[in-house]
Amino acid sequence: MRIAIPKEILPGENRVAVVPETVAKMVKAGMEVWVESGAGESAHISDGEYQKAGARIEPKVESLLGEADVVLKVQRPVFDEKRNRHEGDLIREKATLIGLLLPLTYPDVAVKLNARKVTAFALDCLPRIARAQSMDALSSMSNIAGYKSVIMAANALGRMFPMMTTAAGTIPPAKVVVIGAGVAGLQAIATARRLGGVVTAFDTRPVVAEQVKSLGGEFVSLEVSHEQAQDTGGYAKELPAEFYKKEQEILRKYIQEADVVITSALIPGKRAPLLITEEMLRAMKPGSVIVDLAVEQKGNCVFSEPGKIVVRHGITLIGTLNIPSTVAVHASQLYAKNVLNFLNHIAPDGKSIRSDLNDEIIRGSLITHNGEILHPGVKGLIGLKSVA
Ligand code: NAI
Repeated sequence: MRIAIPKEILPGENRVAVVPETVAKMVKAGMEVWVESGAGESAHISDGEYQKAGARIEPKVESLLGEADVVLKVQRPVFDEKRNRHEGDLIREKATLIGLLLPLTYPDVAVKLNARKVTAFALDCLPRIARAQSMDALSSMSNIAGYKSVIMAANALGRMFPMMTTAAGTIPPAKVVVIGAGVAGLQAIATARRLGGVVTAFDTRPVVAEQVKSLGGEFVSLEVSHEQAQDTGGYAKELPAEFYKKEQEILRKYIQEADVVITSALIPGKRAPLLITEEMLRAMKPGSVIVDLAVEQKGNCVFSEPGKIVVRHGITLIGTLNIPSTVAVHASQLYAKNVLNFLNHIAPDGKSIRSDLNDEIIRGSLITHNGEILHPGVKGLIGLKSVA
């Protein structure tokens, strides 16, 4: 089985889908690995390191993608402005593609891949079940985003995080509020604590209270029952509009006193709940910083803008996208492990790809196969969205 790893071309993407360590494992398992020349450059991995691990370096992306059985990518295939062509059109017909394809946001890509009868697996659609944990790239990336969100906030804040007793006086610790204590939120809590901040966290799912406490944060209950807040898959459920009004009331006092607020409240498949209103923003201390991790799902905070850092009412609002790409070395390392584990799951013999829909992991992530769009969400969307 020939595996190809192209250089990511989406602007701002520094990650790469394999690292030398995972190349070596694939080669050992009998796979042939081709890496595009320069694919690891932005993650500080040289062609030589890939070669040493057993990969062949291919300078021409046309032959790399056109002759591969399996293509491993981080991002979905996109239009290559420089060469005036779409990456998806270079992938060999009936080949397999694995990546963070975001098919519900970009159904047009699924349509394009399907036209080439590509077997496309979206790692972002994996079920978050115990068996899939080692392949869960979204969690790996959220973990990194949670860490980096605190670093970005600390960088933008005109204050320090730790309490300091100096000859010139005592500086109090930064007050950090984390809204949404899922994967990103928990790592934000841990990072803020390591820097010496005092952390208060909120989540609709009461089960996370213990995890917040074990990281040294204070958990404030939003007074929702487990059944109301969480579905059987462990994800947050959407709550009635009155609940969010009540939540804003609870949050108000804490936000007013906060130096840093990290928001990561997410309900899968829905717009992120709007939890910080203009009125709440106005009441905050000037110079405070909000990092809105949910900005891609329209944000938890009014005024946050995807891909921008804006100042409103004296508050810095950070809406940076693709934060994991700013930590490209470790993000690539973790992503590559997730991809390898996934590849081993769908091709246990290292020779052929399984498309067994009775397997929950395959069923959740298989978007197109044999000229058929399989993902129910995408199926519904393509009737509505135009095809690029
Ligand atoms: P997750 O599903 O693990 O966590 C979300 C948490 O929000 C859950 O614990 C849920 O119970 C909680 N929640 C839902 N509604 C809430 C409410 N009204 N109040 C308080 N908590 C509420 O998701 P994960 O993986 O931690 O991702 C969080 C966000 O970070 C997502 O929006 C994701 O897209 C974003 N993200 C952004 C990145 C970037 O580069 N900007 C990178 C990675 C993740």
